[in-house]
Amino acid sequence: MAMFQRIGSVLRTSAPARITSVCGHHCWWSNVEMGPPDAILGVTEAFKRDANPKKMNLGAGAYRDDAGKPYVLPSVRKAEEKIVGQKLDKEYLGITGLPAFFKAAADLAFLPDSDVIKEKRNVTVQTISGTGSLRVGANFLAKYLDAKTVWLPTPSWGNHTPIFKHAGLDVKAYRYYDSGTCGFDSAGALEDLSKIPENNIVLFHACAHNPTGVDPSFEDWQKMAEICKQRNLLPYFDMAYQGFASGDTDRDAKAMRYFVSEGHNILLSQSFAKNMGLYGERVGAFTIVCADEEEAKRVESQVKIIIRPMYSNPPLHGARIASTIMGDADLRAQWLLEVKSMADRIISMRTQLANNLKKEGSTHNWQHITDQIGMFCFTGLKPEQVEKLTNDFSVYLTKDGRISVAGVSSANVEYLAHAMHQVTK
Ligand SMILES: Cc1ncc(COP(=O)(O)O)c(C=O)c1O
Repeated sequence: MAMFQRIGSVLRTSAPARITSVCGHHCWWSNVEMGPPDAILGVTEAFKRDANPKKMNLGAGAYRDDAGKPYVLPSVRKAEEKIVGQKLDKEYLGITGLPAFFKAAADLAFLPDSDVIKEKRNVTVQTISGTGSLRVGANFLAKYLDAKTVWLPTPSWGNHTPIFKHAGLDVKAYRYYDSGTCGFDSAGALEDLSKIPENNIVLFHACAHNPTGVDPSFEDWQKMAEICKQRNLLPYFDMAYQGFASGDTDRDAKAMRYFVSEGHNILLSQSFAKNMGLYGERVGAFTIVCADEEEAKRVESQVKIIIRPMYSNPPLHGARIASTIMGDADLRAQWLLEVKSMADRIISMRTQLANNLKKEGSTHNWQHITDQIGMFCFTGLKPEQVEKLTNDFSVYLTKDGRISVAGVSSANVEYLAHAMHQVTK
């Protein structure tokens, strides 16, 4: 008879090496440790438990309207009605997705009359939003680039490191954020970039850097493009917020397009989660700019070979929405106005927050609140101040002091300013 040994809540038999739970089920995963909760989802959980009617959730990165409600763009609703009316089938897409979508995505990024598009040098495929795009990119790099190191700004979006590491790449960091000024550490970034070994990959946030909201000036972008040229670095742009930062899709793509115009054959990940509010529909695109059309054809064949065993082909509905909007002149114009109205509301909340802090009597320099751009603001609050903000005022945010400005509204901006002043005076 097998001998039993109690390990935690499971019983382990001494021989054979079979592990059984107290209720007799086979435990295959007794060696699997409990992982830490996701930092941002943890904030939302704590928020849900709080009974304070004034509570604010500034952790999650999703747009809210001025009533604090999730917002479905009217252009998206119209596109959906159009699609439903067409009674289309639900067949599989090809590996690279919906052609009308990935062509429109590439045009939005590079412009239809750009050299890249005219010369057919881009391999652009539909992906499972921005995250899926980065993962396809990471796997392609891990397989085809000799240098296996990607350099991320410090800090960067929390998912970048695991995405690249899980694909087998090494992740290193270059300086980016200056906690003294709550702005861009230009000298630090330029110095670090100029020391990166040749042929390595450098990741840039195309606009609305997450989590800091700090973007380099155009002069800084020009310097970084030059360093990448001198050091022969491969620039990878993560563009999760095109249009969402400034309200203008061209302005937000300016840095990325500049790199391309300077001859950089970049990689690009696009997401339509924020700028079309298609979060859960998972709409994104991945692009590799190649030297010429012939190289693009070869590269595309290998991108397909990477995607096929990952998820075969991407989802249909969201891509239909995005391509319907971008392919119809009226809907497209409407969408661009709606993107601008989302960006403008966020910009106006930044101004109101800074003004209300002044009204509260705060003597701190809060200029970074209005200098920063996009959904997130790195407030500069210290961990103990964040804790106080949550414990005493039911304002929920990540420990690094990042707030999602999209969660602030005209109804609660004064309360937030009051709370921030109380914990910082
Ligand atoms: C910098 C950055 N990259 C990529 C993403 C990808 O998001 P999604 O997978 O929802 O498109 C996000 C979303 O928060 C982001 O902030």
